[in-house]
Amino acid sequence: MQYAKILGTGSYLPAKRVSNDDLAQKVDTSDEWITTRTGIKFRHIADEQEKTSDLAAAAARLALEDAGVAPDEIDLIVVATATPDMQFPSTATIVQQKLGMTNGSPAFDVQAVCAGFMYALNTAHAYIKSGMSKKILVIGAETFSRILDWNDRTTCVLFGDGAGAVVLGASDEPGIIHSKLHADGNYLDLLNVPAQIADGKICGSPFVKMDGPGVFKFAVKMLSKVADEVLTESGYSAEQIDWLIPHQANKRIIDSTAKHLGLPQEKVILTVQDHGNTSAASIPLALDTGIKSGKIRRGQNLLLEGIGGGFAWGAVLIKY
Ligand code: UT7
Repeated sequence: MQYAKILGTGSYLPAKRVSNDDLAQKVDTSDEWITTRTGIKFRHIADEQEKTSDLAAAAARLALEDAGVAPDEIDLIVVATATPDMQFPSTATIVQQKLGMTNGSPAFDVQAVCAGFMYALNTAHAYIKSGMSKKILVIGAETFSRILDWNDRTTCVLFGDGAGAVVLGASDEPGIIHSKLHADGNYLDLLNVPAQIADGKICGSPFVKMDGPGVFKFAVKMLSKVADEVLTESGYSAEQIDWLIPHQANKRIIDSTAKHLGLPQEKVILTVQDHGNTSAASIPLALDTGIKSGKIRRGQNLLLEGIGGGFAWGAVLIKY
């Protein structure tokens, strides 16, 4: 059996860094409220010219360099995003063009909002296991700042922009060990952006609408459950996990999953304070940050998990 092994990672954050105090000058909020309720201190915001595909391509270039893989060696691109450049084509094909690729490899987007990277990794894993692909570029990239109502303090303080990328390669050595996805469309009202293009108009609000406490409760419950499922189904125990790399939406949610698994703070990669919630980009951004800081080392066991609108959620166990 072929494993999907991580050959390299990369990430990119837009230059503009916005603090909680900066936001408190625009909406009725405070550094104290944002910090205690979410753990967020800063978020990065793309400039007007920067598109999701630019962030994605920047992260991808670094991941390819890290992996020592040329763009045209990639035989599949999967981009997880809820903020594509256009209605169509996919952001993945735009990234392909920006990387200068001409090999005709398939490229597509997956849409599972903050769980997008879990869905993208799971898909890439299946392609490699089945022998359909040998080297895959998996990216999570978002410009959530474009779909925020900057007058709504209940949402605008939470999110940020960024991208993270992973190059996966077919290998005899262990890589992705197990992955598990779930979705329940009955909760779609709790978190969505209702806008759609119809009859030449944008119908419905183009801004993020969220029942924060409702999402919080569901996330705490389901992230613990899916982490347990992945461990049980793979035959691993929580003690064997070297790093928990969670979706970075809220430090209180992350603490609760870590506590459930019995993992101390020292085994959790935490970037929410610097990045905010970057949706599909948050897990690969945290992964790359953990690797580049020297914390995450080859041979260690990583548990990634995330949840987002839909609801959609999942977890992936990887030997790095
Ligand atoms: O990535 C996708 C998944 N998303 C998530 O995981 C988000 C999950 N939800 C959360 O992280 C939390 O629910 C929030 C951070 C969004 C909100 O925290 P909370 O502790 O659940 O607060 P709340 O919504 O219950 O609001 C408490 C109070 C309210 O005031 P009243 O009604 O008690 O007077 C809000 O109006 O805090 C108020 N509030 C704020 N105050 C200052 C809400 N937003 C702000 C703000 N600054 N930015």
